[in-house]
Amino acid sequence: MNVDEVLAGLTLEEKTSLTAGADFWSTVAIERVGIPSVRVTDGPSGARGAHIPGVGGVPSVCIPCGSAMGATWNPALTEQIGALVGREARDRGCRVLLAPTVNLHRSPLAGRNFECYSEDPLLSGVLAAAFVRGVQSREVIATVKHFVGNEAEFERGSISSVIDERALRELYLVPFEHAVRDGGALAVMTSYNRVNGKWNTERPELLLDLLRGEWGFGGLVMTDWFGVVDTVVSARAGLDLEMPGPGRAFGPALLAAVKAGDVDESSVDDMVRRLLSTFDRFGILDAPVAPVAPAGDLTEDRALVRRAAIESTVLLRNDGVLPLDATAGVVRRVAVVGPNANAPRIMGGGSSQVLPHPVETPLAALRVALGDGVDVVHERGCVIDRSARPIGARGLVAPDGFDVEVVDGEGRSVARQSLPDTKFLFFEPPDAAITKGEAWSLRVTGTVVPEETGRYDLSLAQAGATRVSIGGAVVLDGVADPPPPGGSEFFGLASKELTGGVDLVAGRPVDVVVEFFAPAGGFAFGARVGFRLPEPADLMERAVAAVRDADVTVVVVGTSEEWESEGRDRTSFSLPGRQDELVRRVAGACARTVVVVNAGAPVDLPWVDDVGAVLQCWFGGEEMGPALADVLVGAAEPGGRLATTIPVRIEHNPSYDNFPGENGELRYGEGLFMGYRGYDHRCLPVRFPFGHGLGYTTFAIGAPSVEAMPASGAVAFEVRVPLTNTGGRRGSEVVQCYVAPVGDTRLARPPKELKAFAKVELDPGESTVVSLTLDERAFAYWDPGQSDWEAIQPRRAQLTAVEAGITQDRRAPGWQVDPGTYRLLVGRSSADLPHAVDVVIRGS
Ligand code: BGC
Repeated sequence: MNVDEVLAGLTLEEKTSLTAGADFWSTVAIERVGIPSVRVTDGPSGARGAHIPGVGGVPSVCIPCGSAMGATWNPALTEQIGALVGREARDRGCRVLLAPTVNLHRSPLAGRNFECYSEDPLLSGVLAAAFVRGVQSREVIATVKHFVGNEAEFERGSISSVIDERALRELYLVPFEHAVRDGGALAVMTSYNRVNGKWNTERPELLLDLLRGEWGFGGLVMTDWFGVVDTVVSARAGLDLEMPGPGRAFGPALLAAVKAGDVDESSVDDMVRRLLSTFDRFGILDAPVAPVAPAGDLTEDRALVRRAAIESTVLLRNDGVLPLDATAGVVRRVAVVGPNANAPRIMGGGSSQVLPHPVETPLAALRVALGDGVDVVHERGCVIDRSARPIGARGLVAPDGFDVEVVDGEGRSVARQSLPDTKFLFFEPPDAAITKGEAWSLRVTGTVVPEETGRYDLSLAQAGATRVSIGGAVVLDGVADPPPPGGSEFFGLASKELTGGVDLVAGRPVDVVVEFFAPAGGFAFGARVGFRLPEPADLMERAVAAVRDADVTVVVVGTSEEWESEGRDRTSFSLPGRQDELVRRVAGACARTVVVVNAGAPVDLPWVDDVGAVLQCWFGGEEMGPALADVLVGAAEPGGRLATTIPVRIEHNPSYDNFPGENGELRYGEGLFMGYRGYDHRCLPVRFPFGHGLGYTTFAIGAPSVEAMPASGAVAFEVRVPLTNTGGRRGSEVVQCYVAPVGDTRLARPPKELKAFAKVELDPGESTVVSLTLDERAFAYWDPGQSDWEAIQPRRAQLTAVEAGITQDRRAPGWQVDPGTYRLLVGRSSADLPHAVDVVIRGS
């Protein structure tokens, strides 16, 4: 499509209409000139399709979460995963993917850490660029988010992240810079938060000067959902698209602003030109909606996400218990305990959630991997459900799902749909036969099978009116007895909970009917009918008894999408519930205990020295269970390395004094000294350092040789590192190179920073030379300049001779490489760096 020609033929009304979405997941079409509506989809866990989490749709491939991908340290693999998700988006008719999330792991407690890659900006940036390349190889636009300073969920819609310029430039902007410059990302999503008191949607210095000017970004900038305030300021600042629609700040409001003379029509032209030419890059305007024919559950997709899960699994500690030797008859009885052992905790919570393909839990997968010769016993040990699970989830399963009858305001049955469980939320009527604003209702029916016998506590949160019957009897009546508003479900749009209970017998099917009434008008309509499994008093004792005569115990602990979710930070570093006690007691009863930590972010591991091995498997996507089983039995090697430090105590984390926030501000008080930069700076011991991870073989990292690369013209070095697999099986190593300025520095610098890495896989006895490149940026810092330099000179001269002698005048902000000596530290983690080579950078 000739964008300029089309643009010239559009009316002002049409142009402004393009600047806001049409609905929740698509842009406005202008059929008169052949501009189609373009559909968007989240996101970081996979391409769900154009609908909100948990509401209809076909299953999608659920990839390992961001922090898992971070732990792979493997850009090539991340690119393949990106290509898979890009294909899935396209198959669903969506040409814009709302991922990757590239905010940094500033605090282990941040609710969306699981979506993000790492605490390190370089690792995050390299992986983000790779993911973007993969997605866009399918001609689907990747959206890097959330730009910028969105490292917490606390008051996320209004908080001001107070970040100094150096920390912004050297840490928080870097992943975006990589995604845009190296990955060629074609869309950026602004964040909900403010930075230093100003909305990011209202910053021309960010959206125009930096993004487009400095980084050469040629794509579109969209808001986070409902995340824009001012029409005029945002239109002038370089924001192109308000999502979702219908527009509040843009669209009709922008039209009015132009008519009132507050915004130039040329600004609107710029916005529309950027929007349309971005779409045009992939021919989207000419062939907009690909056929909606998702590929289904493909073996090759399963294989790829399984490899990614394996490569993300970090073996934190191993006294030799792993891999389990199931073949030699050494292991005859394995106890698999813990609240996450038989629960599919494969993704975090919030907008990134997808409806996954069938998932094998760690317990089920381990049973398969160990084979018939090994007796596997299971106990939950304790419960960590934060709220009730929707009926249909594990524990009270609905083998055939739920049938949904959609009824219009006149009582006519207009459509039939299906749901996997009893949780749904609608912002639009559930069927096109119902006019928006009209009343409608649903009748959801299904048969469930209890997994345990006992009293099931039930709860109902609703936005609408809901009546729930089980086995023919009404057990929760939100129609006759509506609970008050103010609940936390559905982004706070649901009521408080109505509670009840029912006695059920394991294996005995029972009918469930949920009647839901949506009143006329209203914004959101939904219900979550939940249950809690019976919680016998002796749950933990049973687990301890089960492990006593096991040869090996695998304890699967962790969190869930309820504990790690968009919209909410964690309030504790500890594992939820009585899991620490469970690990301690199990380890006391079984000498060979392996702990699997199934969480998207670091958690406290106070018992770490009392157990045989610890694996961190994150939220590993739909193949997490089988991948974990592969690693446990040694069919695969744990390839992951920590992309984020696990501290000894949360109080040591550099953000601790400034997390969450208060009084509308979240101060990034540690500045540059975030993550391992901060622990290093304060010489704090850590539980497991950044970059750490063991394997099933051993590697020797030889002394590196360093050579300047004069041909490149600028500062550049090639670091060549000999690497040999000295163990008995194939495995991978991540060779890491950190740069540390030697001696005094003009401005504060972190003790060392990751500047290059490579993941290498070798056969036993095989050697290679790993080549790492360091460019000028590897030695640079951002000099914010000193704008008041002139003004303070007289005072300086007056006061002391010493100050008068300071002549370095760096008023102009910019990247700066100071001449001097820099130490290149090479090894396998930020705390295991056996080799040091000094290089000298001379002044020019
Ligand atoms: C999230 C975004 C997401 C959007 C659409 C927002 O609440 O912050 O990351 O892409 O919703 O689901």
